[in-house]
Amino acid sequence: MKKRLFLSAGVLALCAVAASALAQDNKFRIGLILPMTGQQATTGRQIEAAVRLYMAQNGDTVAGKKIELILKDDTSIPDVTKRLAQELVVNDKVNVLAGFGITPSALATAPIATQSKTPLVVMAAATSSITQASPYVVRTSFTLAQAAVAMGDWAPKNGIKKVVTLVSDYGPGIDAEKYFKERFILSGGQVSESLRVPMRNPDFAPFLQKVRDLKPDALFVFVPSGAGAAVMKQFLERGMDKAGIKLIGTGDVTDDDQLNDMGNGALGVVTSHHYSAAHPSALNKKFVDAFAKANKGLRPNFMAVGGYDGMRVIYEALRATKGQGGGDALLAAMKGQIFESPRGPMFIDAQTRDVVQNIYLRKVEKKDGQLYNVEFDVIKDVKDPGKSQ
Ligand code: DHB
Repeated sequence: MKKRLFLSAGVLALCAVAASALAQDNKFRIGLILPMTGQQATTGRQIEAAVRLYMAQNGDTVAGKKIELILKDDTSIPDVTKRLAQELVVNDKVNVLAGFGITPSALATAPIATQSKTPLVVMAAATSSITQASPYVVRTSFTLAQAAVAMGDWAPKNGIKKVVTLVSDYGPGIDAEKYFKERFILSGGQVSESLRVPMRNPDFAPFLQKVRDLKPDALFVFVPSGAGAAVMKQFLERGMDKAGIKLIGTGDVTDDDQLNDMGNGALGVVTSHHYSAAHPSALNKKFVDAFAKANKGLRPNFMAVGGYDGMRVIYEALRATKGQGGGDALLAAMKGQIFESPRGPMFIDAQTRDVVQNIYLRKVEKKDGQLYNVEFDVIKDVKDPGKSQ
């Protein structure tokens, strides 16, 4: 009995040694949490493809550490995101958490980043307040406030005086509505009605009927990535365009993941956004071509670019800390990164940990037989307007 006790103490000690060796092994673990199934599955598919492309192009060893990607599907249910993040931190000892397809998932997980001092790289979710939910959040996507302000400025200068807004009823939709309206009204525009549709399984029909009756110059729309095609279809089926109502919005509605299947009815739709697959730079062309080649012709959308740049921010932080840094050192090395992205110039503001980037005005046009968001104007180096208030 005594001997057995002695033995098991020895085994325990060995286990402890093995565990600490594991923590200091030559691996760098990234816990990537994405919606791979369910309503936001296209966001997961796009970001996973971009992350894998970045790794294929840049190798899987940085500063002597082998990068290990651990992908988890949260089905875009915030409680699941949080539980997965907890398991990744405690069991898998990940060095970084990344992904986060929707705002509620990012907000649910932020306290875990704070408690465990783990950098949390938001590659998709876009409500302004997310970066304030934890000092360990760094964002490589965008904010709705950034994109919506540009449209609020553009519309009244282009003959649009009366608008109805229609947004998904949660964080990013409420930001889009608020920041579009503020700017639009400041420039003399009039918002006759602000409609909000449920985030899950929305039925746009009754809302669009109401818009038709109100007959504004334009309908301003925010729906999350993946829902744009349904809005466009019903907008056209109801003959809203023929009734003289323009469709405008942030670029989520003319999502590159779906745009080419929306048909010619989408031609001429103007949106404001940080990324278009048609962005005319050499770096973007290379990105779009490589992405399509690796993914059976798939076109990258704005979610993909958030994932690709998120990996860049992680790789460079690991390089800068020579593979030796803990969460705080990595976080410090993420702040202030400045580089050329496929979207254009990009900067992680060291104060806010949020992305500063160009916002483009784009119009849907046909190029080589395909529909694209073609950029025709730019507002440079836009900080998140949601931070100053
Ligand atoms: C969010 C999700 C989206 O799909 C999108 O296009 C913009 C914002 C979000 O939940 O934050």
